[in-house]
Amino acid sequence: SAAEKGGWSSFMAKEISEEPEAVAKTLLGRITDGTVHLSELDPIGDEVLANVDRIIVIACGTAAYAGMLGKYAIEKWSRIPVEVELSHEFRYRDPILNERTLVVSISQSGETMDTLMAVKYATAASAQVLSICNTQGATIPRESHAVIYTHAGPEVAVASTKAFVAQVTALYLLGLHLAKSRGTLTAEEIAENAAELQAIPAKIDEVLVVSQSIKQLAHWMTDTQSVLFLGRNVGYPVALEGALKLKELAYIHAEGFAAGELKHGPIALIEPGQIVFVVVPSPRDPNSLHPKVVSNIQEIRARGARVIAIAEKGDAAVLPFADEVIPIPLAGSLFEPLLAVVPLHIFGMELAAAKGLDVDQPRNLAKSVTVE
Ligand code: G6P
Repeated sequence: SAAEKGGWSSFMAKEISEEPEAVAKTLLGRITDGTVHLSELDPIGDEVLANVDRIIVIACGTAAYAGMLGKYAIEKWSRIPVEVELSHEFRYRDPILNERTLVVSISQSGETMDTLMAVKYATAASAQVLSICNTQGATIPRESHAVIYTHAGPEVAVASTKAFVAQVTALYLLGLHLAKSRGTLTAEEIAENAAELQAIPAKIDEVLVVSQSIKQLAHWMTDTQSVLFLGRNVGYPVALEGALKLKELAYIHAEGFAAGELKHGPIALIEPGQIVFVVVPSPRDPNSLHPKVVSNIQEIRARGARVIAIAEKGDAAVLPFADEVIPIPLAGSLFEPLLAVVPLHIFGMELAAAKGLDVDQPRNLAKSVTVE
């Protein structure tokens, strides 16, 4: 009903507006005095956790893209090797698991059958299973050794939005927790990264304001047949998530690519008028891939692409080459995805709305897929 939507045109519009809160509530009580506390991991225990030599993240859909972001952060901070795999692929390939493997499942609903079966498989193979879940008391957390709840609040729209930013937040907290217990980051480094996380909600608020221009853009694009998304490093999962939202909501063929892969194939798709979203990393980071992504933009522009760049506020290098720039606030490079994904969620929703589609209930999809 209209009341349940709290005055918003759809549950999705409401849920995207709640992205700042989804992050804030997931952080609540888990960072104090600049350090991370995850008592949720107690059932696994420090000793077992200290022996973990490999992490496998399993999930489906949007949750799997959150998992990919988790890999970048957890590996960087804790130096534990992380793999990310779709639950339905993991389960059927005879994966190598033992007591030193930590399997991290991610599921908003906690009921996705593919992920549940993978969790059961992993526990049977004596791996430790930690689940990141948004639904209290769901089946997946009950089948796991430990659970970190995301506190995004109930998500009603079929396509996941606010749960994604909450899942990334939980994974980053896990990364910092592991770095703390292994001593791979100093106390100062943990405090800096924790502060970056705590600053995210206010920054998403800023992104929600500037993203209003996306609505106009979506209205001009109702006849578009195909949209590409490019990103590098942590921008890559963001590109995949942007493409998934467009398929799910607007029924438009969309693909996300790692920008470095452009020259190995996808650039052949570029013809005049092709819309390409590019997630641009910050130019401030000394190891930044910024110059490489800017040169990707030049390459596709030279072939007639229309470029919509999501770039850091004040990034002057991008301006001459992009048709449209969506500015995001300054953040540490691992944290940029939590900001850059927001305009892409809005874009998918607005384009679907402009096409007159039901953004909350896209055709052929279910909120939680309880069959394998
Ligand atoms: C369905 C939804 C997606 C979601 C995926 C995983 O396919 O349409 O939006 O990302 O399931 O759901 P889960 O509840 O496991 O996060």
